[in-house]
Amino acid sequence: MTNNNIYFIANWKMHGNIADINKSKSVVRLSNLKKFKKTKIIYCPPYTLLKTFCEKVKNSNISIGAQNCHSHSEYGAFTGSINAKLIKSSGAKFVILGHSENRKNGENDLIINKKIHSVLKENLNVIFCIGETLTEKKNKKTYSVLKKQITKGLKGIKKINNVMIAYEPVWSIGTGIIPNNLELLKNLSNIKKIFKKFKKSSSIKILYGGSVNPKNVRELAQIKAINGFLVGGSSLNSKKFIDIIKKTIN
Ligand code: PGA
Repeated sequence: MTNNNIYFIANWKMHGNIADINKSKSVVRLSNLKKFKKTKIIYCPPYTLLKTFCEKVKNSNISIGAQNCHSHSEYGAFTGSINAKLIKSSGAKFVILGHSENRKNGENDLIINKKIHSVLKENLNVIFCIGETLTEKKNKKTYSVLKKQITKGLKGIKKINNVMIAYEPVWSIGTGIIPNNLELLKNLSNIKKIFKKFKKSSSIKILYGGSVNPKNVRELAQIKAINGFLVGGSSLNSKKFIDIIKKTIN
């Protein structure tokens, strides 16, 4: 991990209530300590908690993000949907897009690209998830999958400084299994290469996501190409989340 800002993104998925927001107070306190000033902690709770969470962390170093949004950038007749404008009005600053749990439900590169455009139009930041499935990995398709996801997902995107890539091998999410170092280094370096060739810029932050926990984070944090972590399960427990942050920074 480099000395630049290090990101810890808590993806709460379909979990969380007001009591859980209160439990994150210990994380807020940690984020305000001098030692952790370089950390960027971003909580991504369900939509229902966005506004309350934003108010709770108002005077802290912590930001709030949403976990997805509708691709339509204006208000409209889309029952049950939330778009970037509505997310912005909650006070959130980030949106996770392209998560494999949504790709699995039919979200394709074209829709993700539309969503990225709509989020950037509102001057919000994107956490753009990419990653191969187990079958794609076994069929040696990882490189082509990552290339397709990056080039289609980021097509026509100019405000690239407001985008971070989260590399999340699908087979690693929620399984307790993480890629070995060699594999991870290779895939991270390929992501950088693909991005550089495509956008003529190498300044993109890359996060790792998939079963990050207090036990494996020290090893993952040794990898220079990683700028932070997208944490699912382990972020629901503040003690575990703090442990992940402390073990990365120490
Ligand atoms: P996990 O989830 O940490 O529970 O594997 C990560 C993610 O889906 O973003």
